[in-house]
Amino acid sequence: MTSGRRVLITGAGQGVGRGLALAFGAAGAEVLVNDLHRERSENVVDEIRAAGGSATPAPFDVCDYASVVTAVAATGPVDVLVNNAGNAGAEGFGGRARFADTEPVDWDSFLRVNLYGVLHCTRAVLPTMIANTWGRILTVVSDAGRTGDPGGAVYGAAKAGAAGLMRSVALENGRFNVTANNISLGTMRTPLTEPLWAEHGDSPQAKEILRNYAIRRPGVPDDVTELALLLASDHGSWITGQTICVNGGYSFGL
Ligand SMILES: NC(=O)c1ccc[n+]([C@@H]2O[C@H](COP(=O)([O-])OP(=O)(O)OC[C@H]3O[C@@H](n4cnc5c(N)ncnc54)[C@H](O)[C@@H]3O)[C@@H](O)[C@H]2O)c1
Repeated sequence: MTSGRRVLITGAGQGVGRGLALAFGAAGAEVLVNDLHRERSENVVDEIRAAGGSATPAPFDVCDYASVVTAVAATGPVDVLVNNAGNAGAEGFGGRARFADTEPVDWDSFLRVNLYGVLHCTRAVLPTMIANTWGRILTVVSDAGRTGDPGGAVYGAAKAGAAGLMRSVALENGRFNVTANNISLGTMRTPLTEPLWAEHGDSPQAKEILRNYAIRRPGVPDDVTELALLLASDHGSWITGQTICVNGGYSFGL
């Protein structure tokens, strides 16, 4: 039901975003594949086209509002925005620190992509969605922002901010048939976290993480795609302002 829709997916060059781009492409959408890295965007575009889908590379930095506005103007109207680009730390689970041990200089990289990136892209596409009286905005957030994340406090704060933005956008724009929702992920197996699983899958750290998941495996991009397709479709027209967890039943201390 997303066939023919123009779908902009940020950070779609790998991981969850790539999985979403392939799924939207297979569903008949025109996929605008954003990534900071041009080559990653182009590779995913090639994959979608090779499977018979329709896609265009849209490389830009979501942190740079001027670039976002220019790119959105150049690509044409966006029916569905998926705010997926994110940054949980320098290298996978590296760069984690207790908040009391961080300084303001450490906070910017988390806030810029996970919060400002979502502000920028959402602001850039909303006026056209309102004018068209149809639009869907999905933001990929994290349980770090929902339940807290020792060692990832600023990342969690940025994700919680993005989730809050979606709730307000939902309330302001529902009368224009524009919906806004969050998909909150638990620990995934993607290039972001691959070092943990590939090299340390049996490590005490990995086992400790999975002990908090009813389904004792990390999520994979395919776990997310059907929900995203539903929320982006006409069938999702009465679901808005929600945060839906795709997290294997994450809960502290299972
Ligand atoms: N991996 C996890 O365990 C996990 C858990 C919860 C939430 N999430 C969230 O899911 C989303 C996707 O995560 P992933 O694991 O697929 O990440 P990933 O690092 O594997 O892929 C993210 C992609 O986003 C791109 N990107 C980064 N900054 C960008 C920018 N400023 N502008 C444009 N593109 C940019 C990167 O180049 C990369 O290709 C993120 O928002 C992340 O915070 C991930």
